[in-house]
Amino acid sequence: MKKLLLFVTFLTLSAPFMRADEGMWLPSLIGQRIQDMRKNGFRLTAEDVYSVNKASLKDAIVHFGGGCTGEMISGDGLLLTNHHCGYSQIQSHSSVEHDYLTNGFWAMNRSEELPNSGLTVRFLVRMEDVTEAILKGVTDGMDEESRGQLVRTNQEAVVAKAIEGTHYQARVESLFYGNQYFLFVFETYTDVRLVGAPPSAIGKFGGDTDNWMWPRHTGDFALFRVYAGPDNKPAAYSPSNVPYKPKKFFTISLKGVKENDFTMVYGYPGRTQQYIHSQAVNYIQESNPHKIRLRTQRLNIMNEAMAKSPAVRIQYASKNASVANSWKRWQGETKGLIRLQTVAQKRAFEESFTSWAAGKPQYASLVGQLQDLYDELEPYAYAADYHSEALVCVEIVRMAGSISQLLAREERANSEAEQIRSLVSGQLETFFKDYYRPIDQSTFVALLREYLMNVPSRFHSPLIAEQITKYGYSIEMWADELFSTSLFASKEQAMEALHRVDFMDILRKDPAMQLYTAYMDQYNQTVMPKVTALNSAISLLYRGYMRGQMEFQKNKVFYPDANSTLRITYGKVKGYKPMDAVYYEPLSTLDGIMEKDNPDIYDYDVPQKLRDLYHNKDYGRWAVNGTVPVCFIATNHTSGGNSGSPVLNAYGELVGINFDRVWEGTMSDLAYDPVVCRNISVDIRYILFVIDKFAGAGYLLDEMRFSR
Ligand code: ARG
Ligand code: GLU
Repeated sequence: MKKLLLFVTFLTLSAPFMRADEGMWLPSLIGQRIQDMRKNGFRLTAEDVYSVNKASLKDAIVHFGGGCTGEMISGDGLLLTNHHCGYSQIQSHSSVEHDYLTNGFWAMNRSEELPNSGLTVRFLVRMEDVTEAILKGVTDGMDEESRGQLVRTNQEAVVAKAIEGTHYQARVESLFYGNQYFLFVFETYTDVRLVGAPPSAIGKFGGDTDNWMWPRHTGDFALFRVYAGPDNKPAAYSPSNVPYKPKKFFTISLKGVKENDFTMVYGYPGRTQQYIHSQAVNYIQESNPHKIRLRTQRLNIMNEAMAKSPAVRIQYASKNASVANSWKRWQGETKGLIRLQTVAQKRAFEESFTSWAAGKPQYASLVGQLQDLYDELEPYAYAADYHSEALVCVEIVRMAGSISQLLAREERANSEAEQIRSLVSGQLETFFKDYYRPIDQSTFVALLREYLMNVPSRFHSPLIAEQITKYGYSIEMWADELFSTSLFASKEQAMEALHRVDFMDILRKDPAMQLYTAYMDQYNQTVMPKVTALNSAISLLYRGYMRGQMEFQKNKVFYPDANSTLRITYGKVKGYKPMDAVYYEPLSTLDGIMEKDNPDIYDYDVPQKLRDLYHNKDYGRWAVNGTVPVCFIATNHTSGGNSGSPVLNAYGELVGINFDRVWEGTMSDLAYDPVVCRNISVDIRYILFVIDKFAGAGYLLDEMRFSR
C-alpha cells in the first residue's frame, strides 16, 4: 500500500515540461500544466479553467448524449454542438414532408423548439482524486478477485457519499489501468430541445468524401436549448419548463485565429490506448482491413438503395454515416501506424524496458507475458471482430436479439403480458420506422458469406451449417426464406402477431430469433469466455506495465488515456505537410466551398442560397478579407467524443467547435505525431454567418455575448 501511495504522489507532483500538443489533461490537475500553457500563449489561470469555488470554464461544458461534447453559449441555456452529434435527433424529426436533414431546421421562436426524448446533457459538478479511498485495504499480495471486490465496495461507498442528499449522479473512473481513481459528480438535464440545424449540404458538406480530411469546408454545427424546472434544476420534459440558466457560458470571440495562435479544446474524448504493447498495435493494424472490407460491402448496399429513394435516404442517413465514419478512420489509422512504424517503435521501447526491468521481479517478465497473452488472444479477437462487424449487423438479427433480451428480462420481473406487449410494440415501431428490408437482406447475404469464408468453422454455430446445407449452399435462398418468414422483416406481420395471445411464443419461434439464439449460444461458448478471460489477464498486467513505464521514464509527463472523462488539450493553429511536395494551410474559407461546388455530386451540392450570398458578396459583418472563414486545423490532441467541444483562444473565448481530425493523423489514439496530427474545427464566425445570413435566424445572436 505504501508503495501505491508513493506512486500516486509521484503522479500528482511530477509536472515538468513537455511540448504542447500531445496530451489530454485532467481539468482539476491543470495547475500542473498551466505554466506550460501560459508559455504557449494562454492568459487565464488554473482557477479560471477549473474551480469548485467559483464559476469556471468547465461549468459551460456538457457531455452531450453520452458520446459528444456541447457548450453553453447564452444565459438562456443555448447549447452549441456538432451537426453530426445532433444528427439522429434531426433525422428522427425528419420525414419526406419535413425533411430537416435536407432543408435544415430553425425554430423561429422558443415555442417552435423540438423536444428530444432520451437526449440528456451532463454538467460536471466536480471531480476529485479518490485513489486513497478506493485502494483502502488493498495490499500488495492480494489476489485479483479480492482486490476487485474491495475496490468495488469502496467505490460504492465513495459514490454514495458523493451524492448523498443531492439530485446528482456520480461515478468513479480508473485511470492509468487502475493505478489512480477519480470521482466525477454530475448534474444531468433531460429536457433538451432542438433549436436549429443547417441543411446537410452545409452541416455535412463534403459528406463521407471529405470526412476525416483536410482541406475541409463543413459547417458541422447544431443548436439546442437546455430546459429546467422553475428552480433551474433538472426536470423531465414539460411545456412549462424554462430555459436553464447556466453558471457559466462562453463569450464568443469575433477576432478569429491565425497560424501559431494558442488554442485549447475542452471536452470528453472517448477512448485512447497510448501505452499498449506492440502486439496489440500490430493486431489493430492487421485486423482493420478486415473490418474495412465488411463495412465497404454494407456501405455499397446502402448507398445503392439510398440513391434510388428519398424515403430510404432519410431512413438510412444516420446509420450510413455511423458505418462510414469508423470505416474511413480505420483506413487512415492503419496508414498512419505503418508510416510512423509504431509497432517497430514500441518493440524497441519494449526491449529497452525489459533490459531496465531485469532484476526487478514486478516488471521483468511483463513484456513477454503480454506478448504471450496477445498471441493466445488473436484467433478469438479475430472471431470477436467478425462477430461485431458481421452477423449482429444484420438488422433483423440484432432486433430479434434485443426483443429476446426484453422478453427474458420482463419474464424474470413477472411483468403482465399486456405490459410486455406494449414494450415490444414500442421497440418494433421505432425499428420499422427506419427499416428497409432489401438493404437488410442483401447485407445478410454479403456478411454471412464473409463470415463463412473467414471465420474458422470451429466457431460457427451448428444451426448455420444446417441451414446452409438445407439450402444447397445458397445463402441467397436461405435469405429469401428467412426474410419472407421472419416477423422482424415485416411490420404488418409483426404487429398482427402481437395481437395474438401467444405472441411471446410466436416471437421465440421466429427464424431470426432462432438464428440469433443459436448463433449467440455458440459465440458465448467458444469465443466470449476466452476473450473475457484473456482481456482481464491483460488488463491486470497493464496495471504493472503502466507503473513500470512511469518508473522507467522518470522524466516523461504521463497523461491518462481518454475514458470519456473531461479533458483539456492545448496546442497551436498549424498547417502540415500531408505528402511529398504538398503543404496544407491551416485556414479554409467560403471560396473553397465554391471551388468544390458541383450540383452533380451529392456531397458537394452547395445550397442555392449560399451560392447567391457568395455571388453577391453578401457577407454582412462576417466578411474577412473579402470572404468568410470556414474551418481551421490545430495541433490539439483530440479523439472521438471531442466532437462539439469548445475550441478556445488564449482568453478562454470561443473561436470554434471541434468536429474532426485529419486523416494522416488518425493513429493519434494510439500514437500522436506532432508532424501530422491535427484536429479540425468550424470557425465560430462561419457558424454565426450561417445562422444570420443564410438561415435568417439572427435573433439567436441577441442572446449571445461577443468580444472583438
Ligand atoms: N469524423 C467525424 C467524427 O468522427 C465526423 C463524423 C460525421 N460525418 C460523417 N460524414 N460521417 O465523428
Ligand atoms: N468526429 C469525432 C467525434 O464524433 C471527432 C473526431 C475525432 O475522432 O477526433 O467525436
